[in-house]
Amino acid sequence: MKKISIAIDGPAGAGKSTISKKVAKKLNINYIDTGAMYRAVTLKMLNKKIDLSDKENIIQVLKNTKISYKNNHIYLDDELVDNKIRTNEVSNSVSYIAKIKEVRDILVEMQRRISKNTSVIMDGRDIGSNVLPNADYKFFVTASVEERGRRRYLELKEKGINVELNDIIEKIKTRDKIDSTRAIAPLKKCKDAIVIDTTNKTIDECIDEILSYIVERR
Ligand code: DC
Repeated sequence: MKKISIAIDGPAGAGKSTISKKVAKKLNINYIDTGAMYRAVTLKMLNKKIDLSDKENIIQVLKNTKISYKNNHIYLDDELVDNKIRTNEVSNSVSYIAKIKEVRDILVEMQRRISKNTSVIMDGRDIGSNVLPNADYKFFVTASVEERGRRRYLELKEKGINVELNDIIEKIKTRDKIDSTRAIAPLKKCKDAIVIDTTNKTIDECIDEILSYIVERR
């Protein structure tokens, strides 16, 4: 079958990764979670207690850091860190790392390399606009900030983590703001992306909607 590339962008908590993983399975293609890569870099900086505003130091440390993404798993210096990158501390710090140009250059290069010879569905913030501007399909997956906050709140509660819903919504708003106003590759819907609003839809409805566009054009 012909190689295809699907770009999925959108704000935090909109359902991008859940949807992308399932679409990847249905189409039997690779799912690439680019947020996990930014999270792994952030984890390294937190582990080394690097000041997140100290750009020079971050770039220096990154030069001696190995990030790899294999079979849906993320490795930091050869250690599997799938769970360690999902803490609140990483979530609240990652936007500061993701706005550094040199960090983005390295990770974008890696993302393009991964997608060069294989069919992928890649999720992030700048996939359709920057990483894969020639993607066959581009979707912008979004939901209201209240709904995204509510989902994140339930997710944390399920894990036994006690948080205030309002607090979570405020943190998401902060992250949205940094991600969409940064100078380099900010989060924004590109002109040729199809909007999927997940606020009042089930995951399956969103997946069917995405698949219907792909089937229609294939
Ligand atoms: O999708 P996520 O929440 O795991 O992403 C974590 C952070 O990484 C998010 O705050 C924005 C940043 N990010 C980015 O700037 N570009 C991407 N392609 C993916 C994520």
